[in-house]
Amino acid sequence: MAKAFKNPFRPGAGHMPPYLAGRDLEFREFKRLLEQEIILENLILTGLRGVGKTVLLETFKPQAMAAQWLWVGTDLSEASSVTEENLATRLIADLAVVTGQLVIAEEELPAFGLSRHSQTVQQTLGYEALSFIYQNTPGLVADKLKAVLETSWRYLQLTGKRGVIFAYDEAQNLADHAGDKQYPLSLLLDLFQSIQKKNIPFMLALTGLPTLFPKLVEARTFSERMFRVITLDRLNEKESEQAIVKPISDSHCPVRFSDPLVERVIEMSGGYPYFIQFICREMYDIIIQKIVRGDDDTLLVRSEEIVQKLDNDFFAGRWGRATDRQRDLLMVIAELDDPDNEFTVQDIVETASRSLENPFSPSHVNQMLSAMCDRGLIYKNRHGRYCFAVPLFGQFIKRQKRGR
Ligand SMILES: Nc1ncnc2c1ncn2[C@@H]1O[C@H](COP(=O)(O)OP(=O)(O)O)[C@@H](O)[C@H]1O
Ligand SMILES: [Mg+2]
Repeated sequence: MAKAFKNPFRPGAGHMPPYLAGRDLEFREFKRLLEQEIILENLILTGLRGVGKTVLLETFKPQAMAAQWLWVGTDLSEASSVTEENLATRLIADLAVVTGQLVIAEEELPAFGLSRHSQTVQQTLGYEALSFIYQNTPGLVADKLKAVLETSWRYLQLTGKRGVIFAYDEAQNLADHAGDKQYPLSLLLDLFQSIQKKNIPFMLALTGLPTLFPKLVEARTFSERMFRVITLDRLNEKESEQAIVKPISDSHCPVRFSDPLVERVIEMSGGYPYFIQFICREMYDIIIQKIVRGDDDTLLVRSEEIVQKLDNDFFAGRWGRATDRQRDLLMVIAELDDPDNEFTVQDIVETASRSLENPFSPSHVNQMLSAMCDRGLIYKNRHGRYCFAVPLFGQFIKRQKRGR
């Protein structure tokens, strides 16, 4: 019996959880965006790593398709953002997936040789046809892509679909490279703004880390009006509880979590989806082993080992990216009242002057924070304050301090 029901929890980037808790507001917002006839708002799903952006985007897909939208897109690797040409290839390849079956011309070939019947040859709007349009349109990359998208829609709209959603995960990878005179990010924004003005219902759905939206606005100020930004946050207590309990509520599931244990998972995870999956998966295994051993004290699960494993699996790699002096600074930040919330240079300088023999000057702190932003440890939010780019990093740092 214990073997038949497998551990349902799924800690891992992009792994669909056994039960997707909460996100009601986000579903409603997305539905609203789907109702647009003329696209005035595109979607951005943003938030820290592990908060559930990828799986939510994945869940939006069937909803959009049920509402008669076509859906294309992938992860935006850094390579697709190196040059404008790469981005163009990306868009054309993605679009070809839904245009590939559309017939744009038919030609009757007369009976010839061994074949006694005439044959109809169909030309479809696949990758080759789209590339042909692209290459034979004069002008810049943007002009060429516009021609591809416009032609595609001319045929796609005959199918009765509402439009096409271009969904790109990890879109914080998009960047302009002024040094190389390559502006793929600006190109993408210009392109969609321009075709949306022509009432072509192609919508962008981007997900990415909190750096994404500021980056878009910096490239093109009109991005501010072009996107509806949905920030995913931790789950609240009720939603966390559902994420923990629902997957094991099946009558075949041999494991039950006691109420105090559920409480403990909520507290340890801070409601962050990745941590919920991680901790629950460990707890589940520990309890199964107890059942196998005939140890009926399944209420008693020690947290220390789970925390240790989480530190090794999730945090240690990120901590490893910091230099010694950066770690000193991170430890100062962890001393703040609420390190897992936002903080300022001033906060850090003040605390450091109290706790360190060798304190930091404001300019030094500024410089180090920006270096740590580049390493993906910290990010600057829209209000110019800083936050850890990793959820619950403050608590982890405190544990390191104790272990020193
Ligand atoms: N709403 C949710 N309820 C329960 N688990 C979730 C939820 N959203 C995400 N998860 C879990 O959290 C982890 C991280 O999800 P993911 O979509 O990869 O995050 P992100 O893309 O933001 O880094 C996965 O293990 C996933 O199963
Ligand atoms: Mg993701």
